[in-house]
Amino acid sequence: MAITKVGVLGCGLMGAGIAQVAAQAGFTTVVREVNQAVLDKGLARINAILEKDVSKGKLSAADRDASVARLHGTTSFDDLADCDLIIEAIVEQLPAKREVFTALDALCPPSTIFVSNTSSLTIMEMAAVTKRPDRFAGLHFFNPVPVMKLVEIVRALTTSDETIAALHEFTRALGKTPIDTSDTTGFIVNRLLVPFLLDAVRLLESGVATREDIDEGMKLGCGHPMGPLTLLDFVGIDTVYSIANIMFDEFREPRFAPPPLLRRMMLAGHFGRKSGQGFYKYEG
Ligand code: 3HC
Repeated sequence: MAITKVGVLGCGLMGAGIAQVAAQAGFTTVVREVNQAVLDKGLARINAILEKDVSKGKLSAADRDASVARLHGTTSFDDLADCDLIIEAIVEQLPAKREVFTALDALCPPSTIFVSNTSSLTIMEMAAVTKRPDRFAGLHFFNPVPVMKLVEIVRALTTSDETIAALHEFTRALGKTPIDTSDTTGFIVNRLLVPFLLDAVRLLESGVATREDIDEGMKLGCGHPMGPLTLLDFVGIDTVYSIANIMFDEFREPRFAPPPLLRRMMLAGHFGRKSGQGFYKYEG
């Protein structure tokens, strides 16, 4: 199961990051978006990050050029037909994910491994629409992808040992560390992280402390790089709200239920950094 060519579905925040690290690690990479405008925006984001790394002296101009030459954008599924690995990082909606996997299952040879970067949906629900449930798994990256060293490798009920081994090797080739988890909502990291973030909102809601003191507490008291409310804004209120709802549906435990303030923020369009307003205000 040698992987040399990688297809990435989606060139949003996560897809762009995954395509970037795959191209930088030496893989021929094809990233697919729904239309040229969205694709151009994603590719521009990758180029800007690479440019910044060159200007900081973290990356040579020659390595930047070689990475860019290995990275191809497309709006067609056909260009992904000869990939050894397809990584899906589109919108977190099961019907949309099932649709792209159905289309690619008909195009790619049986040897191609399919993975989803979903943070909370069930891998088996996607594997089931393909004829390759043994070559289907979860590969969960963290934001910002070029910086975060972890990848969760999610074994569905049907995933083969060979597929898991190939994904370990691929993750290591990206310079990241794999951890293994079963196909359980939230996997390892979000299962622990999401209740913690929701508890921070409950602290704020109940007037225990200010947003600044809650964040400062976890930064300086526990060495977290960002306080929980800053991290909520960074990940996106909409994203965390959606994950929390899926986890609550699965486990029915109150700790996974989104607190009322989070729902009010959703209704107000206060999605965090991406909308300019979350627990904090963002300019530009
Ligand atoms: N892309 C590429 N590089 C980036 C980046 C990005 N989007 N954002 C920051 N960086 C780089 C910077 O260039 C800088 O590199 P340098 O040290 O070589 O100059 C380095 O990261 C540090 O960045 P900054 O100095 O600008 O700022 P910070 O020191 O505050 O670091 C951070 C930023 C890396 C985002 C750090 O605050 C952090 O680790 N925060 C926590 C992130 C986290 O928890 N992510 C997981 C979220 S949960 C998730 O993704 C799962 C999903 O399912 C919800």
